[in-house]
Amino acid sequence: MAERIGTTCVQGGYRPGDAEPRQIPIYQSTTWKYDTSEHMGKLFDLEESGYFYTRLQNPTNDYVAAKICELEGGSAAMLTSSGQAANFFAVFNIAGCGDHVVASSAIYGGTYNLFVHTMARMGLECTFVSPDCTDEELEAAFRPNTKCVFGETIANPALDVLDIERFAAAAHAHGVPLIVDNTFPTPVMCRPIEWGADIVTHSTTKYMDGHGATVGGAIVDSGKFDWMAHADKFPGLTTPDESYHGVVYAEKFGLGGAFITKATAQLMRDFGSIQSPMNAFLLNMGLESLHVRMPQHCKNGQAMAEFLSEHPKVRFVKYPGLPTDPYYELAQKYLPNGSCGVVSFGFTGGRAAAEQFMKSLKLAQIATHVADARTCVLHPANATHRQMNDAELEAAGIAPDMVRLSCGIESTEDLIADVEQALATI
Ligand SMILES: Cc1ncc(COP(=O)(O)O)c(C=O)c1O
Repeated sequence: MAERIGTTCVQGGYRPGDAEPRQIPIYQSTTWKYDTSEHMGKLFDLEESGYFYTRLQNPTNDYVAAKICELEGGSAAMLTSSGQAANFFAVFNIAGCGDHVVASSAIYGGTYNLFVHTMARMGLECTFVSPDCTDEELEAAFRPNTKCVFGETIANPALDVLDIERFAAAAHAHGVPLIVDNTFPTPVMCRPIEWGADIVTHSTTKYMDGHGATVGGAIVDSGKFDWMAHADKFPGLTTPDESYHGVVYAEKFGLGGAFITKATAQLMRDFGSIQSPMNAFLLNMGLESLHVRMPQHCKNGQAMAEFLSEHPKVRFVKYPGLPTDPYYELAQKYLPNGSCGVVSFGFTGGRAAAEQFMKSLKLAQIATHVADARTCVLHPANATHRQMNDAELEAAGIAPDMVRLSCGIESTEDLIADVEQALATI
């Protein structure tokens, strides 16, 4: 029987056998012991799968990764210590010094920094394209050394919706995969692999954990991208890895396993950005209610966007569920049951009004965090983008009066009443 997404949220990944613990066991152990060196040697040669050191892999993490894999409809998945690590690993697993990435310009600021500054120091170049670019502009961004295309299903904080099918088609025409960061919708609202994405990443810190308790990330491989068909572009997957006695990942682990096995065997081994098993356990608690929480986040986001769009002190509202929003059509296609709880808006009274509004909120809490059960709010010009003047903010696409309101799962009426009273103080 085909399982529905709510059942996978609750029971996916870990299915205990007879007389086994009902809850996912926490393997709070760095190390596994073996009776013979020969046995351990087989693990080091990737001849046998098994655990030996938690810097690379831990069963608790793998149960939770398996659940996220099922939720996204992938072939293999891994947890990372953060969303940043997930995006870094997803790209660096197939691109390195001398390579090039095409990325949507509407992405999280941390990912932008990773691409523009840190990856550049590693010799990896990035060309940004607007998610609204023409097909010609998208085409022009590719180079012979392009290794992947990257975008966010719903961009944080711009809330632009990525046309996944169009970006996937362009990537595939150039023989490279599309990597989609699906943090904001989660697989409950959108499953990018069904629209052609090859690799999906998450900051599990956000809705997946949902309770502001653990920082984490995940990478899911669709198992659909044929590395061997583009062998010259992806030598790391299609030629021998001398650090594992010449294993060829795409041959030994096939379409479904090559990408995640390589990322685990090489990148986790060398960078060690593993999620702690305790955090994976807590993440799983969040996942168990994801399908119940997401509709309430979306309901609150939609109601808030509608309320704000009719308020005289509000200058603009960005929310893909509003029929007036430029991304409404794409949201109807990719997110027909709702998008997320995050709404961005500005004030007719400008920056000073935004500052007054922030001070007056009672339920919504000022935090850099987003996508949490508790409503949180951020004024980027006064926080994450504080170093920029108004002209620089406009150039970065962030209005000085813009506030990002991340609607939690509290009662809708209370959230709107809080925003209404704060607007009344302006
Ligand atoms: C869309 C998106 N991707 C990645 C990240 C980075 O995740 P983390 O903070 O877990 O490293 C964030 C963080 O806000 C995000 O919003």
